[in-house]
Amino acid sequence: MLERLDETPPQIIMQVAAEFAADHRANKIDLGIGVYRAEDGTTPILQSVLEAERRLLKSETTKSYLGPAGDPDFNLAMSEIILGRHSAQGRISIVQTPGGSGALRLLFDLIKRANPDATIWLPGPTWANHVPTLTQAGLKHRTYRYFDSVTLGVDFAAMRASLEQVPETDVVLFHGCCHNPTGADLSAEQWDAITQIVQERKFTPLVDIAYQGFANGLEEDAYGVRSLLAHTPEMFIASSCSKNFAIYRERTGMAIAISANADIAALAMGQMRDLARVGHSMPPDHGAAIVRTILRDPELSDIWKQELEDMRLRISEIREALATAFRVRTNSDRFDFLATHRGMFSLLGITPQQVGRLRDGHAVYMVSDSRMNVAGLRHEQIGQFVEAVLSVID
Ligand SMILES: Cc1ncc(COP(=O)(O)O)c(C=O)c1O
Repeated sequence: MLERLDETPPQIIMQVAAEFAADHRANKIDLGIGVYRAEDGTTPILQSVLEAERRLLKSETTKSYLGPAGDPDFNLAMSEIILGRHSAQGRISIVQTPGGSGALRLLFDLIKRANPDATIWLPGPTWANHVPTLTQAGLKHRTYRYFDSVTLGVDFAAMRASLEQVPETDVVLFHGCCHNPTGADLSAEQWDAITQIVQERKFTPLVDIAYQGFANGLEEDAYGVRSLLAHTPEMFIASSCSKNFAIYRERTGMAIAISANADIAALAMGQMRDLARVGHSMPPDHGAAIVRTILRDPELSDIWKQELEDMRLRISEIREALATAFRVRTNSDRFDFLATHRGMFSLLGITPQQVGRLRDGHAVYMVSDSRMNVAGLRHEQIGQFVEAVLSVID
């Protein structure tokens, strides 16, 4: 029967990774795949994670099943990081998921069960996996205006105008921080305005927060989630521990549904548990056990927060150094946006042909829409990168 299958379109980011691996030029630069890299080019295991693993090795007594909702201590500890202090007690349903991707899939499935006709509104552009995941869940999508390709920032007036058309029955997906792929984030004032639109239009927000701590700080990056939580009766949150704990391959994340009251929250929890059961049955334990061990130990928690802050500061230093190097070299502010963007990604704003020339002529790899992983650059490569970009856009 397998011969009846259609060919699968290539997964663009994986394709860039394969092309990079096959390139033997010594000076090649990988700005494709979305993983944090330290100044030495590695994606290291955090010290807090290693210490948590040591402790787990000594203390774990069983590998028995976890249950479809995952580890309740992890769920509580991590939800406190995301939600902070709030007044939604009793209205929260949480399921531990295999990564943020698993959280998104579970929430899309939940939405499909609650309202099969719901449309998911996505920012233009958005993370490449959003559309395939919601489509697989049987949902439709539409795009709201977000990125301004001229200023390379958020076109908030256009975004507001789009959101004012969304019907009450639909769901709008927002990136909590570090917008992927553009790097253009909302300010606190803009989040407040969005919260007001959500209150007026009464559609349901879904916040995808995969990079908490990478933009402006752990607390600061939760501003949007918390603003919505304080003012909307119903919302969804998909969270990932892949980046902020650097445990990408441990597949650790969480799906949160906020309901209007405790009775509805119990209904949502039952459905979420059921969706986990028919999807992956039970989530993998190790990553969540690491996160729980760190967050429940004040000393380990402080080490982790400092390590997260160090990653954030490195990204922000590279951004500043890049913008400065472009400014000095071009005598213009054309690339200043690199310093104002947040998180690992920026859309450089060059054409797919120019991205191809960067790859072929200069061994610089990024996604064809010109999404670059800023964290893939080492300080010593900035000069090479700036010259390569300027040579393909001239
Ligand atoms: C916007 C966004 N959401 C969700 C995810 C999923 O992360 P995970 O690796 O935890 O599945 C990513 C990962 O790149 C992402 O960029």
